[in-house]
Amino acid sequence: MSEELFKKLISHTKKYGFIFQSSEIYDGLSAVYDYGPNGVELKNNIKEYWWKSMVQLHDNIVGLDAAIFMHPSTWKASGHVDAFNDPLIDNKDSKKRYRADVLIEDHISGIEAKIEKEVSKAKKRFGDQFDEQKFRSEHPQVLKYTEQIEDINTRMNTAIASGQLNDLKTLIEELGIVDPVSGSRNWTDVRQFNLMFNTQLGNISGEEGKLYLRPETAQGIFVNFLNVQKTTRQKIPFGIAQIGKAFRNEIVARQFIFRMREFEQMEMQYFVKPGDEMNWYHYWKEHRMKWHLSLNADPEKLRFHDHDNLAHYANAAVDVQFAFPFGFKELEGIHSRTDFDLKNHQELSGKKLQYFDNDTNENFIPFVIETSIGVDRMFLSILSNAYHEEMVADASGGEAERVVLRIPAQLAPVKAAVLPLVKNKEELTDKAQEIFDKLKLFFNIQYDDKDTIGRRYRRQDAIGTPYCITVDFQSLEDNAVTVRERDSLEQVRMSIDELIPYLDKRTNMAYLLAELKG
Ligand code: GAP
Repeated sequence: MSEELFKKLISHTKKYGFIFQSSEIYDGLSAVYDYGPNGVELKNNIKEYWWKSMVQLHDNIVGLDAAIFMHPSTWKASGHVDAFNDPLIDNKDSKKRYRADVLIEDHISGIEAKIEKEVSKAKKRFGDQFDEQKFRSEHPQVLKYTEQIEDINTRMNTAIASGQLNDLKTLIEELGIVDPVSGSRNWTDVRQFNLMFNTQLGNISGEEGKLYLRPETAQGIFVNFLNVQKTTRQKIPFGIAQIGKAFRNEIVARQFIFRMREFEQMEMQYFVKPGDEMNWYHYWKEHRMKWHLSLNADPEKLRFHDHDNLAHYANAAVDVQFAFPFGFKELEGIHSRTDFDLKNHQELSGKKLQYFDNDTNENFIPFVIETSIGVDRMFLSILSNAYHEEMVADASGGEAERVVLRIPAQLAPVKAAVLPLVKNKEELTDKAQEIFDKLKLFFNIQYDDKDTIGRRYRRQDAIGTPYCITVDFQSLEDNAVTVRERDSLEQVRMSIDELIPYLDKRTNMAYLLAELKG
């Protein structure tokens, strides 16, 4: 998807009530968004599919809804107070603040673009004869660019991993990176900036009353590990799943809902016996990829990417990346978190966080495999995969352009629309209303009798409604309706009595879950 299409997608989400800028009447709040009527339905369906695939499909995974505020010591133990930082740099002329690593990554993107330019020039020159793979691996200029990228990446990653912030500044200077706003090279030193938002507890002043808005939902799971294990009598291995808001004071706020300051996570911590963690890490890696593929994502748009720099808590980590409109980026993280969190909470709280194994009579701190996905990023991946502009036949025998969201039917905000062919015939609208009243007990559906039938189809296509049910004069005679399918545009005539099982088979999440279970 090009940048142009991405802009169209963003305005489409506003026009059709999926996403609005937060506090828009006050010119918005950067990197904070609200979900409109269609957006909240899609978001809820994504969450429901994730929840059911974790909690309902696995006997040994249970749910939790921990509070956003936690005891401040939580964030000391988890390492977030000391290590949840981004390296920042300011431009002294523009007074703008940037993430040093993002400035360098943008520079790398510039070199990548030069490679792509060489490739497309050669493609034009050689036509069908062009062997792209050979060109990429042999062309001297492309090789030079590739080497530059590797060198920059190595230097950046080493500087970040070792905390040598001066090296990051030297790299920025050597690469001649300028402030994108002012073009100036007048940079400050690089400093660490903690990403946690904080606030103050009502009746305690100063440091003691300092509270953080959680930057991940995971810690609510760790501190409740024994509460949940004991009350549900789970045996290891078992998991705890949670969906909830998280907050990060992101410096680089761009790419729409990809990087937000307030967002939602779906996280599952899987507690395993020490030594078994790598088996489970591979299990969850495959299982999560299967989940993404079950939602019709083009397999070419998904890939694994091993972390170059491991987070402070992990001994192995991989991202599921998705081809967002602005390139392959992290959609979900799968992390082997060792016993880092439980051990630190045990140490700082002085309360035992150990599991007693009845079979071996041993006490131990479990190791943890985490799967962590952002609801909003998942939302964006579904929408960017679904957005299509295409020409279709119109009622007059010509062609018309339509924008269609090919959202998987089980996740679509509205499952079907009931449309009387014309609105000024009471017999028809009564019949359509009767069908609507019956179906709405089972599905989220809409009734629409405004404008021509063609325009009503377009409106439903634009929000991804998989089925349109047209009630015509014949319906009054034969108790049948025409059902139009969104993607194929196929129309089938069926008895009104068949509608519920027909829609159920195609939109009920249970069938998606059955496929996932295999
Ligand atoms: N508990 C582990 C953890 O939080 P993470 O890689 O920092 O790991 C997990 O975040 C997921 O949360 C990411 O893969 C992404 O989908 C989502 N996420 C993280 N920061 C985000 C942000 N600022 N805006 C939207 N989603 C975000």
